[in-house]
Amino acid sequence: MQFQSNIPSQFIWPENEKPCLTKPPEFQVPTIDLKTFLSGDAEAVSEACLQVNEACKKHGFFLVANHGVNAKLIAQAHELMNDFFSLKLPQKQRAQRKFGDCCGYASSFIGRFSSKLPWKETLSFRYSASDPSKKTVEEYFLSVLGEDFRQFGVVYQDYCEAMNDLSLRIMELLGMSLGVGSKYFRDFFEGNNSVMRLNYYPPCQRPDLVLGTGPHCDPTSLTILHQDQVEGLQVFVDEKWYSVNPKQDTFVVNIGDTFMALTNGIYKSCLHRAVVNSKHARKSLAFFLSPRMDKVG
Ligand code: SIN
Ligand code: FE2
Repeated sequence: MQFQSNIPSQFIWPENEKPCLTKPPEFQVPTIDLKTFLSGDAEAVSEACLQVNEACKKHGFFLVANHGVNAKLIAQAHELMNDFFSLKLPQKQRAQRKFGDCCGYASSFIGRFSSKLPWKETLSFRYSASDPSKKTVEEYFLSVLGEDFRQFGVVYQDYCEAMNDLSLRIMELLGMSLGVGSKYFRDFFEGNNSVMRLNYYPPCQRPDLVLGTGPHCDPTSLTILHQDQVEGLQVFVDEKWYSVNPKQDTFVVNIGDTFMALTNGIYKSCLHRAVVNSKHARKSLAFFLSPRMDKVG
């Protein structure tokens, strides 16, 4: 007999899509030491290119370590997420996402990916690198949430700027790994208009019935994800789910559909999802890199 649950049916996934409670095997992804790559050492560069090339042709996921992003900034970005998501609902709803918009606060929102509700809350905002003097993230927090959120704006502006720098370095690596040179993708992504999303997954009594984020491929070019130490991210490769375990001081990088198209399908955008658990809330910060406006469409 099936146990009854008090989870609303909109959150319960069909039998064949429910997560398996036994943890899937760990996904073996290469960790690229960005500092060594950027040092220009010929052997290190060719080894990094080889690893990235192999990973991106198969599934599009790799990790970056020694990435140069300030550890204190990452810690602050996580702390402020705790502060925001522990606010009372009406306060969070001041930033309520409007229908059809990709930005703002959302809870129990049906994305374009699935018919089931995700077990998570998110806060998303736009970042524009087109005019470095414009602090678009700072302006967003001030205009939508007010003066009390000035510090949020400052921290997430800095975080997005760090993600912008990091994504341009990763684009050098991707260009070289494809044999088109380190500068090839600069023209597409310098001055990009991207989106930052804060994901907060509360614990759930029945993690076997729900998904934090349903299976999807990222529609943008590149995703740079920082996950806390709680497991949850899974990738679908060779018809099986694998766990991408959190690894201290690294970012998870994955290719999105737009970059897959830019490479004529050589580099893959791969299906992934996030599961939840019954004990701990989980947090992740996702920076979705998109090409500069005039390169879109
Ligand atoms: C996502 O892919 O949208 C979320 C991934 C995660 O939270 O680990
Ligand atoms: Fe994703």
